[in-house]
Amino acid sequence: MNIYLENFVNIKFKKPGKALDLGAGKFFDVACLKQLGWKCEGVDKNVGVNLEKLYLSKNRPYDLVFSNYVLHFLKNKQKLFETAYKNLKKGGWFFLHTFDKSDRICKISIDEKEIIGFFKKQGFKNISVKKFSFYDNDLGHKHWHRILEATAQK
Ligand SMILES: C[S@@+](CC[C@H](N)C(=O)[O-])C[C@H]1O[C@@H](n2cnc3c(N)ncnc32)[C@H](O)[C@@H]1O
Repeated sequence: MNIYLENFVNIKFKKPGKALDLGAGKFFDVACLKQLGWKCEGVDKNVGVNLEKLYLSKNRPYDLVFSNYVLHFLKNKQKLFETAYKNLKKGGWFFLHTFDKSDRICKISIDEKEIIGFFKKQGFKNISVKKFSFYDNDLGHKHWHRILEATAQK
């Protein structure tokens, strides 16, 4: 599981709740959260959900919405923040990982100011942004990334 997401969950939630993964890929984090007792579901282009458009889950609202390494693929970036916000409970958290502007590998990255702008425009509060280096040890990768982790509350 994304270790940073797991840490975030452990800090912010006393007990498992309901979560939604936007751009779930192979649904690995969804499966891991379920193992931890969460009700968790995910959507992705690969299961017919296009996050360029607003997605409203019939199972909303959620305690946690997260989206990792998807934002840089989207033309309509603000829409991801709208989707997160509208699927969250009041007081629920949005957790996001993306590549920072200083990343040397991903050329379609974003900077902290832009991210904060998207959160604010959507009405999120308690916005927090962290940057860190992460070594991608996967076969065929083996390089450092600069990651931007942003979290905020509805
Ligand atoms: C790098 S993967 C990340 C997967 C997962 N979140 C993770 O952290 O392992 C990016 C995912 O974004 C999805 N994606 C890209 N553009 C999308 C779009 N417009 N709508 C929905 N999903 C999209 C891709 O299908 C892919 O599964």
